Amino acid sequence: MSETNPKLRAALEGVPAYVPGKRAAAGGPVAYKLSSNENPYPPLPGVMEQAITAAGSFNRYPDMACTDLMNELADRFGVPVTHLATGTGSVGVAQQLLQATSGPGDEVIYAWRSFEAYPIITQISGATSVKVPLTPSEDHDLDAMADAITDRTRLIFVCNPNNPTGNAIRRAELERFLDRVPADVLVVLDEAYREFIRDAEVPDGVEIYRDRPNVAVLRTFSKAYGLAGLRVGFAIAHEPVAAALRKTAVPFGVSQLAQDAAVASLRAEDELLGRVGSLVSERTRVVEGLRAQGWTVPETQANFVWLRLGDRTTDFAAACEKAGVVVRPFAGEGVRATIAETEANDIFLQTAEAFRKEL
Ligand SMILES: Cc1ncc(COP(=O)(O)O)c(C=O)c1O
Repeated sequence: MSETNPKLRAALEGVPAYVPGKRAAAGGPVAYKLSSNENPYPPLPGVMEQAITAAGSFNRYPDMACTDLMNELADRFGVPVTHLATGTGSVGVAQQLLQATSGPGDEVIYAWRSFEAYPIITQISGATSVKVPLTPSEDHDLDAMADAITDRTRLIFVCNPNNPTGNAIRRAELERFLDRVPADVLVVLDEAYREFIRDAEVPDGVEIYRDRPNVAVLRTFSKAYGLAGLRVGFAIAHEPVAAALRKTAVPFGVSQLAQDAAVASLRAEDELLGRVGSLVSERTRVVEGLRAQGWTVPETQANFVWLRLGDRTTDFAAACEKAGVVVRPFAGEGVRATIAETEANDIFLQTAEAFRKEL
């Protein structure tokens, strides 16, 4: 066999692996998965029926233009269809955004720590990541991010609320930042957890994008809508950007099943958002419980909580797993735990309390 391997792009060397949230161990005691910010509720009955019907056409390619979904989204958000683009989850759309804007020699700015796909997809594009540390209160340092803009900057991710810390940027602060960004730099408001926001001061990116041609909003059906396994997300952006995203999409990437289930979910939105309301109540209970135990917990507007545990992170994650809940550790930094079923949240709170007493 030849010693020579096919030439691969140098940019791929050292690309960090995406660490998926650990699955609950099969055959273990109980096992609740709080490691991927999924929705603990199964799909609504109407959504399930749509998906089952779509399964009857697996021999056919999906509608490449996602026509029904695009029309439904255009109605739902009051935007033209030409301002929409879909993809295989919002991480797929984020990758399309990079392909559309950035390559070798270009810079992509984002807060750190934030969504762990940003460094991966940036490096794959060939562009350079410029990571701006969160402030001590775990917030985006928007002044530092604006200061980091150079003439090589092509794209800025703003994760609102931020994964994994949960805290959100408010309107005045975001507007002030956007005013500092040059018109030829694209700002992506990643709003994967938008539906969980209860702070009225946190703006809806869709309102912000309307008067700002350099703002794109990223949304997903994976979180509040509970379709993580179907891989469908979308962007709302002005026409040149949305058109570029449609060009860079994987052809037929969004399955018919995903498209039909997403449409059915939008039509069942009241019921779905009722479930989100229950998760938000659970979030309040968990945050208050942790604070009563003495933990410092950022003001989360998402479906997860963040505990900065530093060098106790992996011990805490191990204690959780032993108790029956699998959380997401970021070694040396902290643990992110999804708000899930009441029983799972109870186990998490009990484990946190016992751990706290030993600190
Ligand atoms: C901030 C953020 N953006 C995007 C995503 C991607 O979600 P999906 O690709 O399932 O739409 C996630 C998922 O965890 C996320 O946390």
